[in-house]
Amino acid sequence: MQSFITENGVKVYRYGNPIVSGAVSAELIQDELTHDLNLHFDQNKAIITFDLEENDEVYGLGGNLGGINKRGKLYESYCNDAPDHTEEKTNLYSAHNFFIISGSVNKGYFIDFPSRILYDIGFTHKDTFSMEIFGHDFDLYEIDGGSLQKICENFLYTIGRAYIPPKWGFGYFQSRWGYRDQQEIREVKNNFDFYDIPLEGIFLDLDYMEDYKDFTISEVRFPDFSNLVTEFKKEGLRLIPIIDAGVKIEKDYEIYEQGVENDYFCLDENDTPYVAAVWPGKVHFPDFLNEETQKWFGYKYKYLTDMGIEGFWNDMNEPAIFYDEDSLQQAIDKASACQGKNLDAHTFFDLKDKFSELLNNSRYYQKFYHQMNGEKVRNDQVHNLYGSLMTKSANIGLSQILENNRFLLVSRASDIGMHRYGGIWTGDNSSWWSHLDLNIKMMPSLNMCGFYFCGADVGGFGDDCTGELLIRWLQFGVFTPFLRNHSAIDTRAQEPYAFQSEVTDISKSIIESRYSLLPYLYSEYMKSVTNYRMLFKPLAFEYRNVYAKQAEDQLFFSDQLMLAPITRPNHTGRYVYLPETMVEVNFQTDDIDLQIKQAGIDYLDYQLDDFKFYLRPNSIVPYVSPCRNVDSLDKTEVKFMAFVDEEAEYSLYDDDGVTFGFDREESYSTNIKITNDLGEFSVIVDNDNPEICELSIVIVDSNGNMQKKKVEL
Ligand code: GLC
Repeated sequence: MQSFITENGVKVYRYGNPIVSGAVSAELIQDELTHDLNLHFDQNKAIITFDLEENDEVYGLGGNLGGINKRGKLYESYCNDAPDHTEEKTNLYSAHNFFIISGSVNKGYFIDFPSRILYDIGFTHKDTFSMEIFGHDFDLYEIDGGSLQKICENFLYTIGRAYIPPKWGFGYFQSRWGYRDQQEIREVKNNFDFYDIPLEGIFLDLDYMEDYKDFTISEVRFPDFSNLVTEFKKEGLRLIPIIDAGVKIEKDYEIYEQGVENDYFCLDENDTPYVAAVWPGKVHFPDFLNEETQKWFGYKYKYLTDMGIEGFWNDMNEPAIFYDEDSLQQAIDKASACQGKNLDAHTFFDLKDKFSELLNNSRYYQKFYHQMNGEKVRNDQVHNLYGSLMTKSANIGLSQILENNRFLLVSRASDIGMHRYGGIWTGDNSSWWSHLDLNIKMMPSLNMCGFYFCGADVGGFGDDCTGELLIRWLQFGVFTPFLRNHSAIDTRAQEPYAFQSEVTDISKSIIESRYSLLPYLYSEYMKSVTNYRMLFKPLAFEYRNVYAKQAEDQLFFSDQLMLAPITRPNHTGRYVYLPETMVEVNFQTDDIDLQIKQAGIDYLDYQLDDFKFYLRPNSIVPYVSPCRNVDSLDKTEVKFMAFVDEEAEYSLYDDDGVTFGFDREESYSTNIKITNDLGEFSVIVDNDNPEICELSIVIVDSNGNMQKKKVEL
């Protein structure tokens, strides 16, 4: 074993000769270290076991299922196209191998390993956490820091600053797999106009392509693509096309021909391009582990950026495989053998399984290979790098093409390291109340693993949404940096205007609130990312009592807010644990209502047409008037709500939202300090943001004092 230390004191133990995954950006400095972990090797894996005490908690694992506290379940890191996020699933699209065990001491661990890891966190035996790493070559990171927050900060610093999208990326996006053509896209936009609902852009699912071929546009369905983009842009709206990992095998299709000619595709064991089937039918997979392929594919996005596109979503990049030729043939042979026979139950289920096991069968990943630094590596050994490196490839290309401008980029598959190149959406959830709950639990776990620009398909992707579910989901979703309502083909329409007029009105008002709060959300995003601090925090990260530890359907948002969304049908309220005295805010676009709530357990009355959250002690939150989209955000007058018993400060960060000026310190801040002297509030402002002319401030304290102030700048 070799060992290293990073500049911020993270210890690294290296076993064997690990593949360089790119997860960590910190420099590793050789050192002589030992650990006292219970680690042993067997034939093909390493096993690490931790004893858990009765009250120990385990946090992390990013985009996996389960609670915020991960105890009591099995998990797996092996990127998987998992269309049903049902409870028993062990792996979804990501491989986020960072976790913290919190007990008498807190300690974080990160396993830098690109293949399968199994976690049994008190599932088989409630007091045993055992981890199986399917290989002998990996880096094991041990992260100290004392508090849970500090450990996360240390880890986030080690893996490097997360991706920063353009400011318009924080707008509200509409999407649906099933918008057939440009006419339907225009209709969606017109509906948003008609109902006067803010809209930032529309995501284009695979129907914009010709026969699902990457970097093509269907002349039949989108004959006027370029004009559509221009027309949308004039109104501050963006179109965000999908790019899939598989490249259609089709003679004379440029991407296919170039890929074959230059050996850019993954190979099978006979060194010919591996054939699998996804949306376009038979495809080859670009070998994103090969740097030449990364450069080549990344530059292909230019076809669309030349038409004015500035954002993309990379999909099916686990990579998802519907079937491969051999497996399909075997299933067909089996079916032929059964034809005309009176099948017994056993034979029938066997036949059925032959077909249902075709989708994403793990055998496929043992059948194709990558070229990594001249070496041939089988996919299953580096499986979790694939989707991440597709997104890295896009990031490299787009950075080159768009030069000084930021771009929107989200991916479905990811591992730690990809957080520097793009954001993620959490994949094919369903229109289920439990998936709204899952969205809440996943956000802090994702932040811990470096993923800040993320969000779920609001309203749910699969199955039919109701107006009530959409509203409740929006009430939480408007706090997630990536906000997109997306649904699957053949499900009930789920645009904000697709239900009764009450749903349209309420959704409109919540989306407007998103835009009102956008300067605050953006400011907190930028500060969290650049200071390596979490945006969504479990209550347990600050308060160590049992109520806080078990309040998994509540979250702190940055330092100022606590969120307590409704996650059940037919509920017009819920119990909330308040670890501190807070202000209950009912945020309506034309008015805000502030009520002091004492620390303890409180019943929150939360009607469907409310939009509620809590303001924490000595906190100040800015907001502006609602607008149609980020381009029309008006910051002339910034309003602030403040809860100040002693003293509070807020620094409203801003920048042009488009360039990388923040790296050159081209940013603005509006600093506001409020002091409470026996119910008399004084305000000091220091502002260098030329857009802001006036501040309107409403301040309350826990004695019921309230004052409104105006500051002209
Ligand atoms: C995948 C994606 C989903 C998309 C669909 C069709 O299931 O996760 O978002 O709509 O493919 O492209």
